[in-house]
Amino acid sequence: MKIGCPKEIKPQEFRVGMTPNAVREAVAHGHSVMIETAAGVGSGFSDADYIAAGASIQPSAEEVFARAEMIVKVKEPQPAERKRLREGQVLFTYLHLAPDPAQTADLLASGVTAIAYETVTDRSGGLPLLAPMSEVAGRLAPQVGAWTLQKANGGRGVLLGGVPGVMPAKVVIIGGGVVGTHAARIAAGMGADVTVLDRSLPRLRYLDDVFGRAFKNGYASAGLTAELVAQADLVIGAVLIPGAAAPKLVTRAQLATMKPGAAIVDVAIDQGGCFETSHATTHQDPIYEVDGILHYCVANMPGAVARTSTIALGNATLPFLLAIADKGWQRACAEDPCLKAGLNTHAGHLTYAAVGHALNLPTMSADEALTL
Ligand SMILES: NC(=O)c1ccc[n+]([C@@H]2O[C@H](COP(=O)([O-])OP(=O)(O)OC[C@H]3O[C@@H](n4cnc5c(N)ncnc54)[C@H](O)[C@@H]3O)[C@@H](O)[C@H]2O)c1
Repeated sequence: MKIGCPKEIKPQEFRVGMTPNAVREAVAHGHSVMIETAAGVGSGFSDADYIAAGASIQPSAEEVFARAEMIVKVKEPQPAERKRLREGQVLFTYLHLAPDPAQTADLLASGVTAIAYETVTDRSGGLPLLAPMSEVAGRLAPQVGAWTLQKANGGRGVLLGGVPGVMPAKVVIIGGGVVGTHAARIAAGMGADVTVLDRSLPRLRYLDDVFGRAFKNGYASAGLTAELVAQADLVIGAVLIPGAAAPKLVTRAQLATMKPGAAIVDVAIDQGGCFETSHATTHQDPIYEVDGILHYCVANMPGAVARTSTIALGNATLPFLLAIADKGWQRACAEDPCLKAGLNTHAGHLTYAAVGHALNLPTMSADEALTL
């Protein structure tokens, strides 16, 4: 198969759809890979790295889109990219169609076969192509939280780990899923006094079994949440209710109960945030203050560590990418229900029911699309 990987054009996106190692594996499977020039630069991969891995370098996105049978990207195709898609071509990338009617209309009009990273599942119902970015954001959260707490940023001037004779900072993490667990491990590793709150008892049992005394956990009742937030130096928001906006678990009035200069890192901001006072910020201007409490609410945290994020995403997408290239998308989807769950559009049909429901559009089942 001819695989093409263009340079990302969404503002502030430094990741790339394929690493040189992914190229090497695809080439070893007998496929040809075209990389747009400088596509990997933001993640620290040069054209020479891709050439050494067996790719050809194309001077522009136009060539990549025109010649490739499968396009591998990171972010949803931007309007200029959507014009270049065509029927018979496979698009493998993050799409997030439900809140995006314009993109959905363009993909349907193009006829492209679009497989969305965010709806590919694993055998236990998890989302294997979202998890790596949650791991990155979770591990980054205590790091940016520690920085936010520094005096120069308006923070309380508290060191997460304390020092001998000085108590460590109190970190409260609301939501103990992928983001919350990775955040807890790093915050505990930095020496902080960490508590994870969740509403899932099985999840709390898991955390207790696996991590023992490294950090505490508690049931996220409104009462306990309010009590711990008031004592915290750093609160990390990491809740998710799949398919829904994040619940607002800390109100503006509660900020008055917090210590002046305490910090909030709302990782769930991409789903609207779980603090009433959260609004999305960017890496250029990540922090703002409300009622004396610092807020860090960057919606694309993994972009800060583009190289790590690209490699982590590439590790997760590679087996699916190879299956599509080796077998063709029809057989790859027919043989793997987890990949089939990723199919969002094919030949002008919407094939993902939740997107159809959100946008009030008719859908065809993925199984039916496989017979077209
Ligand atoms: N800002 C970013 O750059 C970025 C990057 C990656 C992920 N995210 C977001 O982080 C959030 C968490 O993602 P995840 O992968 O950890 O999800 P996850 O499904 O693994 O975990 C979410 C957890 O929240 C818990 N939860 C749900 N409602 C709750 C409540 N009312 N109180 C306490 N806990 C509750 C669930 O039981 C679950 O354990 C999502 O909104 C995700 O989109 C943001």
